[in-house]
Amino acid sequence: MARPKIALIGAGQIGGTLAHLAAIKELGDVVLFDIAEGTPQGKALDIAESGPSEGFDAVMKGTNDYADIAGADVCIVTAGVPRKPGMSRDDLLGINLKVMKSVGEGIKQHAPDAFVICITNPLDAMVWALREFSGLPHEKVVGMAGVLDSARFCHFLSVEFNVSMRDVTGFVLGGHGDTMVPLVRYSTVGGIPLPDLVSMGWTTQDKLDAIVQRTRDGGAEIVGLLKTGSAFYAPATSAIEMAESYLKDQKRLLPCAAYVDGAFGLNGLYVGVPTIIGANGIERVVDIKLNKEEQAMFDKSVDAVKGLVEACKGIDPSLA
Ligand code: APR
Repeated sequence: MARPKIALIGAGQIGGTLAHLAAIKELGDVVLFDIAEGTPQGKALDIAESGPSEGFDAVMKGTNDYADIAGADVCIVTAGVPRKPGMSRDDLLGINLKVMKSVGEGIKQHAPDAFVICITNPLDAMVWALREFSGLPHEKVVGMAGVLDSARFCHFLSVEFNVSMRDVTGFVLGGHGDTMVPLVRYSTVGGIPLPDLVSMGWTTQDKLDAIVQRTRDGGAEIVGLLKTGSAFYAPATSAIEMAESYLKDQKRLLPCAAYVDGAFGLNGLYVGVPTIIGANGIERVVDIKLNKEEQAMFDKSVDAVKGLVEACKGIDPSLA
């Protein structure tokens, strides 16, 4: 059977890391697309030259021509600009919306059967716009945010409890912004919910609250340190986890920015919710029950996402 084809739209920091991970994991042949001449070609060649030492079988191609993504099984979109210190993800809206238009049209024309994972920020609005511009089925277009936010949450928890990251399960829902909702009640260490760990005296409520806030600010913390761009290793790893679940029909339960129509009392909005990703794309939105406090946080996050979608419609009337 031919290898799957993975198209990476945007060959910057995240795009290059995605290509390297996809090669090392032998997920398929990789096409790196970018508007910058030489960047995708250079990165593709560099990664291909790591093949003999790493020992992977995957063809790497860099291109400035959308025709080269033809027939892709998966497209991962990072095209656009990242934020600089002092910027919020929402500040990127105007610039990246235009990028989503050209990317959506490129995917529509050349890879209409692909499973599309958007990473470009502001994530929830960009994945919505990308779906609108591409016209692909909703279950085949999804945003990467919850896996990354949950990974950050899990990392901080594993440090606090001094336990293996493998035994920490964290759950972050809502929009990929300041209003994201780390769900303490559904997060566990070895199956023990975090509130129980506070009762057991393993940590304090104050420390847990600080971890929740640090998770919300996780992206800004990295931007502040890097100064010239935003995070790329963990975002790339998170998207690869989603792509792998699709390509191998793993049916992983992963929090993603998915199209929610009916569940969570929403009608037709992209926002971070628990999903099952398998060979059919988003196969299920897992409609978990939220308590009053969690629901209030989720509602606030949903309102923030709705505001960004309305802003997109204001900028590009074809989306209205
Ligand atoms: N089509 C294709 N590629 C584009 C386009 C376009 N219209 N516009 C910009 N690009 C490319 C740039 O040339 C650059 O190589 O997108 C790439 C973005 O790479 P970086 O600037 O390194 O940004 P990165 O850190 O990879 O983040 C990309 O993901 O997490 C989000 O907020 C982040 O929106 C940002 C995106």
